[in-house]
Amino acid sequence: MTRSHTLAVLPGDGVGPEVVAAALHVLDETGARFGFEVRRGEHLVGGAAIDATGSALPDGVVDACRRADAALLGAVGGPKWDDPRAAVRPEQGLLGLRKGLNLYANLRPVRVMEALAQFSTLREEVITGSDFVVVRELTGGLYFGQPQGREGEPPERSAVDTCRYTEAEVERVARVAFELARQRRRRVCSVDKQNVLATSRLWREVVSEVGRDYPDVVLMHQLVDSCAMQLVRDPRQFDVLLTENLFGDILSDEAAMIAGSMGMLSSASLGDAGDDPRKRFGLYEPVHGSAPDIAGQGLANPLATILSLAHCLRISFDEPDAAQAVEDAVEEAVNQGARTRDLGADDDRALGTMAMAERVVELLPLGGAVRR
Ligand code: IPM
Ligand code: MG
Repeated sequence: MTRSHTLAVLPGDGVGPEVVAAALHVLDETGARFGFEVRRGEHLVGGAAIDATGSALPDGVVDACRRADAALLGAVGGPKWDDPRAAVRPEQGLLGLRKGLNLYANLRPVRVMEALAQFSTLREEVITGSDFVVVRELTGGLYFGQPQGREGEPPERSAVDTCRYTEAEVERVARVAFELARQRRRRVCSVDKQNVLATSRLWREVVSEVGRDYPDVVLMHQLVDSCAMQLVRDPRQFDVLLTENLFGDILSDEAAMIAGSMGMLSSASLGDAGDDPRKRFGLYEPVHGSAPDIAGQGLANPLATILSLAHCLRISFDEPDAAQAVEDAVEEAVNQGARTRDLGADDDRALGTMAMAERVVELLPLGGAVRR
């Protein structure tokens, strides 16, 4: 019997629809080989939603996601909606989804594929073998704290953002990091700015307390400025890097450069496990943005989105063999020299978005893999 999963699809803006279409092609082909189907509904989010409805997250989209087993998002934003005085912004769609679905733990794995190490701007011998996951708190801190806003007219303008964390918010994301470390090399590095910020002092205290429940995991603390430096000095030292929302946003872009291209970095955003922990709801998205400069040209690298779907197969669909097959096919395609433009290919030799997805499909096992 064919297993059935449901996916809410949110293509968004810029290259979002292109990388999503390519990844869904890989998903369909994987399902055909592994004996499952994915039923999906498509929804507006971001700038596309603003143009169509006036809102970056139209009514009903959060509920539609809730009813699905998982959601896949392309990217949001672009110059068209970038007026700093605009009342609605595409990013509000993404933030509303994260908050509305209570997706407090954002996992961003960084692994250097050997064939791509040369494309990093960092020296190959520094980054080779790097393999870590950034666990970023996603629904608290400066992104959501109130009050937020601005007031006054020139020359009296002022603006405020608020950083607030409760211990419950710190504890739940810390547990995700420690559990993940147990499946890896059992090291957590927690990142904060405790020498300056009250929220960071609470963060460090609570993470240390949670750490006592995981005596088999080595916990270290680092200040965020020093961590930013260590990431480019010696990225191999990290296994699980746990941090709050804004620090995680910044450090994960820095970390992306270790992997060679933003076009390779995948992510999963998770909340509490539901009734069936083998089918935990998640929002999956590439870490890269909407890349307006190449949008609509079929040039974007779809691998980050395809790898995000692999997480979805493992975490939300309970299809671990299919997940592994997709990851293996991506690595094999890259090893065989498949390159989009961002991976250093000359214009005349570069694969387009769909062609890259097709390469991955060709490398999927026929007839499904053996259950491990
Ligand atoms: C990310 C992005 C978002 C963030 C933006 C688009 C709101 O940069 O997912 O890292 O800041 O979280
Ligand atoms: Mg970011």
